[in-house]
Amino acid sequence: MKRLLILMLALFAFTVIAPAEEVKSELAETMSQIKSSIEELKQNVKQDDVRESNLAQVERLITAAEKASQLDPTAARGLDEAAREKFLDRYRAAMKALVSDAQTLREMIEDGAEPDARYQQMMKIYQHQQSGHERFQEEKPQ
Ligand code: HEM
Repeated sequence: MKRLLILMLALFAFTVIAPAEEVKSELAETMSQIKSSIEELKQNVKQDDVRESNLAQVERLITAAEKASQLDPTAARGLDEAAREKFLDRYRAAMKALVSDAQTLREMIEDGAEPDARYQQMMKIYQHQQSGHERFQEEKPQ
């Protein structure tokens, strides 16, 4: 009986004290795909011998960014309807710009553009991250 009580107390303490595991939004999951494609491309986009896998990776990036543009950021949840529409319009426009830059990179790989030019375009895509997050990501509690 005493053992059972101790066990129950331990279980209770674990549930209360253990930090709740963060559940990732579908958008955050999609962003993780964008991140992994970008990391691959940053490594390999200058290399001509992996052209096919670079093309596959940029395709993956475009698909993920198109999917992301259909999803609503968590930060939109607390807004009233008018503000929310404005916020989502700005968000979708920013995501469209990312898609468009990724499509340009796809063309550059297909056309065999200079390795340095391909890398510059890759970095242009990467730079969407900071402004996208400053403008649309919910602030996390410190
Ligand atoms: C282009 C490079 C980008 C990379 C590598 C990237 C990466 C990520 C990652 C890894 C997360 C998940 C963070 C977490 O798990 O806490 C995330 C979240 C997020 N990102 Fe990006 N991101 C990029 C661009 C953008 C852009 C352009 C926008 C907006 C137009 C954006 C909006 C967001 C938002 C709103 C979230 C939070 C998810 C939510 O609200 O549920 N990101 N991003």
